[in-house]
Amino acid sequence: MKKIPTPPVLQDITHCFDWLDRQNLIPDEPLIDSPPAPEFVLNDRTVISFSSNNYLGLSRRPEVIEAASQALHRFTMGTCESRRLGGNIALLEALEERLARFKGVESAMIFATGLLANVAVIPGLMDAQWYCNRFYGRPWSEEVGTLFSDTLNHRSIQMGIRLSHASCLKYRHGDMAHLEMLLAGCQTDRKMIVTDGIFSMDGDLAPLPEITALAKTYQAAVMVDDAHGTGIFGQHGRGVADHFGVEDQIDIHMGTLSKAVGAMGGFIATDSKTVAFLKSTASGYRFTSSLPAEQAAGILCAIDIMEQEPQLRQQLWDNVAYLLKGLHERQIPYPNRWSPIIPLFLGSAEKAFRAEQLLLKRGLSCIAIIPPLVQNNRSRLRITLNATHTSNHIDRLLEGLEEIEKTMGFQPNGEPPHTWQQVQSMAPAYISIMQSKVT
Ligand SMILES: Cc1ncc(COP(=O)(O)O)c(C=O)c1O
Repeated sequence: MKKIPTPPVLQDITHCFDWLDRQNLIPDEPLIDSPPAPEFVLNDRTVISFSSNNYLGLSRRPEVIEAASQALHRFTMGTCESRRLGGNIALLEALEERLARFKGVESAMIFATGLLANVAVIPGLMDAQWYCNRFYGRPWSEEVGTLFSDTLNHRSIQMGIRLSHASCLKYRHGDMAHLEMLLAGCQTDRKMIVTDGIFSMDGDLAPLPEITALAKTYQAAVMVDDAHGTGIFGQHGRGVADHFGVEDQIDIHMGTLSKAVGAMGGFIATDSKTVAFLKSTASGYRFTSSLPAEQAAGILCAIDIMEQEPQLRQQLWDNVAYLLKGLHERQIPYPNRWSPIIPLFLGSAEKAFRAEQLLLKRGLSCIAIIPPLVQNNRSRLRITLNATHTSNHIDRLLEGLEEIEKTMGFQPNGEPPHTWQQVQSMAPAYISIMQSKVT
């Protein structure tokens, strides 16, 4: 039989894959055989995980599992439809009402994943007039406006921006002077600033008080993706806007249900008109199946626990303090801030992989983060702490990190030297009050 030549697109794939593979840039996907927990089974071996976003350990709570199982038996595996076409079960509406209450706003809207929420909502908001023109012939201008986006925003935000017809101006990470310069020079009336609340690979917080002040001056809307902040940061655990006391100045609160909530899904919380509009127009909502019932039931239970058991957050912040203090005592360079996401920089991807392997030999799993998740030469170990880690788990991690520091050396973080008391004094009041164990 005559051999059909490989189409150029597929030839490219082969070339690109081979090139990446030769550079050792195709990471394995570790095989897990247990639920997300500090001690879990990885490639047939029990190890301690420092890469899970199950910050409060809620995915394993018996009440959550029981609520989810009951819904699973009643509604079975999936809704098999989008909300409008038959996938709108009462549990989903109850969850939306609950999330709105949790965030203290009128209304909420859920998506199958957090990524999908950003992909749907950013174009959905910016392209409202374009949408009415394009599909319903409403004679409006097609002016779509401008998005202002932090350079380190999560990939799902960048995907939403690419899908929107709006133009986008990127401001340097956390650089408010740059953001102001871009806002001041922008001619359009329709502006929206979009930012991670806590940056997922670095663990630092967006300066929301400054961002919301600029938004007020230049009449821009503000959307905050609080994937990693929801349930953790702030006096009430409502997220980074709660931490800064600016919740009422955020127009669109976005969050995921896949991290502290311990499940699956994404949401936005905002005013009811915006939700109603997006429900009937946003493609990532209308053209995809709805969240399965068992997820909604489990999440409803998990949110109750999150609100009723602040001691889980306290345990998490205690663990953060314990690790920071251990790093400090061992003179391992660490970012001088309070966050359950702690990046320790190594530079090259190759070095980060070696560090990951060194930890694995000690029974510790902390996944190396390399491009494209981060910039070149910013490869790192990204530690995420959970409330369910014990001090023994953290001691073992510290021993492993000490060996890495001695044998290959972490990159200095460029921050001035500080004492442990100075680090402690940087903790926000609501965290200091919770601190019980570490002094
Ligand atoms: C900042 C941010 N936004 C959105 C997402 C996507 O969330 P999900 O995993 O629920 O799709 C993530 C996930 O890593 C994230 O870190």
